[in-house]
Amino acid sequence: MTDTELCALAKEMRKFSHAPYSHYSVGAALECASGKVFTGCNIENSAFSPSVCAERTAFFKAISEGEREFVKIAVAGGNTDSDKLNGSITPCGVCRQVMSEFCGEDFRILLVRDDNEFKIVTLAEMLPCAFGGENLK
Ligand code: THU
Repeated sequence: MTDTELCALAKEMRKFSHAPYSHYSVGAALECASGKVFTGCNIENSAFSPSVCAERTAFFKAISEGEREFVKIAVAGGNTDSDKLNGSITPCGVCRQVMSEFCGEDFRILLVRDDNEFKIVTLAEMLPCAFGGENLK
C-alpha cells in the first residue's frame, strides 16, 4: 500500500473510535511485511485506565493473528465532532514502547495531517535510548 493510501485508511478508521471522554478520535493503519494491513482506533473506558490507543489496537490485532514484522504505521487524530484533524498526532510513550518490542529503529511512522499531508518519522526518532530485551541479559 502506498503511504498516501495508508494515511487515508488511518483517517477513515477514526469513525470507529469510542472516545466519549476525550472527544478525540484516533485511527491507525499498520502495514505488515506480509503485505497485510491491520487497522485500529482508540477505545476509551469510563474507568479511564483500561483505555487503549489506536496504534496498540492495530498492533495487537496484527500480533494476535501471527504477524511479527512490520513496515510502517499511519496515525490520524482529531476532535470527534469533525473530520478535520488537529494538526498531526504523535504516538504516546506506551505505544512507542510497544512498537519498539516488535519493530526496528527504521520502522516508519506516518503522522497524518489534513489535506493528504503527512510527516514521516522513524521509531528511533520517536523513542531514542529505548529499553529493550537486551537490557535484561
Ligand atoms: N490516543 C491515541 O489513540 N493515540 C495516540 O497516539 C495518542 C492518544 C488516544 C487516547 C485517548 O483515547 C485519546 O487519544 C486522548 O488522549
